[in-house]
Amino acid sequence: MNALYNNKEQMNTIEITGKNSTSKILVGESYLNTFKYIKHKNVVIITDKNLYNIYESFFTNRPTIVLETGEEHKTLKTTEIIYNKFLELNVDRSWFVLGFGGGIVCDITGYCATTFMRGLDFGFISSSLLSQVDASTGGKNGVNFGGLKNMVGTFSQPQFVICDVALLATLPAEEFDNGFAEIIKHAIIASDELFDYLINNRNDIVDLNKEKIKNLVYESVVLKSIIVNNDETEKGERKKLNFGHTIGHAIEVVANISHGKAIAIGMTLALKKSAQMGLISNPQANKAIELIKSYDLPTELKINKQLLAEKIMHDKKSKGNKIDFILINKIGNAVIHELNIDEIL
Ligand SMILES: NC(=O)c1ccc[n+]([C@@H]2O[C@H](COP(=O)([O-])OP(=O)(O)OC[C@H]3O[C@@H](n4cnc5c(N)ncnc54)[C@H](O)[C@@H]3O)[C@@H](O)[C@H]2O)c1
Ligand SMILES: [Zn+2]
Repeated sequence: MNALYNNKEQMNTIEITGKNSTSKILVGESYLNTFKYIKHKNVVIITDKNLYNIYESFFTNRPTIVLETGEEHKTLKTTEIIYNKFLELNVDRSWFVLGFGGGIVCDITGYCATTFMRGLDFGFISSSLLSQVDASTGGKNGVNFGGLKNMVGTFSQPQFVICDVALLATLPAEEFDNGFAEIIKHAIIASDELFDYLINNRNDIVDLNKEKIKNLVYESVVLKSIIVNNDETEKGERKKLNFGHTIGHAIEVVANISHGKAIAIGMTLALKKSAQMGLISNPQANKAIELIKSYDLPTELKINKQLLAEKIMHDKKSKGNKIDFILINKIGNAVIHELNIDEIL
């Protein structure tokens, strides 16, 4: 694992330098220390109903906006509710906006904070495995629009992201799939070391050994931050983080299965395509597919190809008939190829 990682230390900090600001990702920090990182006099918190009920005492006597849960609430309508609350509370540019939640809360909070009055300072307590290893790092904020995911949004870095793995103790079991799938993605596209770690520590990891999960969060944030530091606004290299997602997103919607399961199938298909094109050997591709299976994620599904094709073409990443498709040329290395929809299907 990364030599920078000191397992004995309570906390490890990773920096992301965006165009407009720098973000500190604090892996292993306790969410109870959040206010150490906020210098502003006034803070408004955005969270969702589940977290509000579980971590009730954190919110007591603090202005808090509580969102409904679920992707269907990640909309402009919800942002209006938040802007109205901001007006009621007399929020202005001197305030700090704190998002406490999973990827949905973080994406909406970042969007509202960067658009209200042209931009307020903001930060996150990232509470799901998926948001700790992926969503809360990198400065992409936004909401869904017109039936398309994350169609409206901004690139803007939070001042800090607290990734407190102790919060995962209350995360529902079925949510872990989403996090594991993204961690496996990071390993396949960027780190053969992380790949081996996932193989060698599989049992402890699925048993949610806290130190090992913290290692995984740290490694994922390091890998993602290197990519984002090179390409914040996804002109090139950052597209590699979409590995498994072009088909995965479409499967998620058409088959109505979880994000983690859908991208597990998406990654499998992209690995098979990589082998078919001669980019990676069959044994290497199979090794990666076996890793996906070993985390109890699916690798195949019966699905209507026509519906899938239609959904892929609606996806924002498609340019005419051509799609930037992420393929693997060895474990730990991804390449971008422009393919047309027929080649993919
Ligand atoms: N901005 C990005 O770069 C990026 C990257 C990947 C995904 N995303 C977005 O992230 C979203 C998905 O994130 P998610 O999987 O975290 O979903 P989520 O925010 O809906 O959280 C999943 C569920 O777990 C609950 N929850 C979260 N943390 C909890 C905790 N500690 N204890 C108990 N319950 C908890 C939530 O209330 C919710 O019901 C999607 O909208 C996706 O588009 C964004
Ligand atoms: Zn994803």
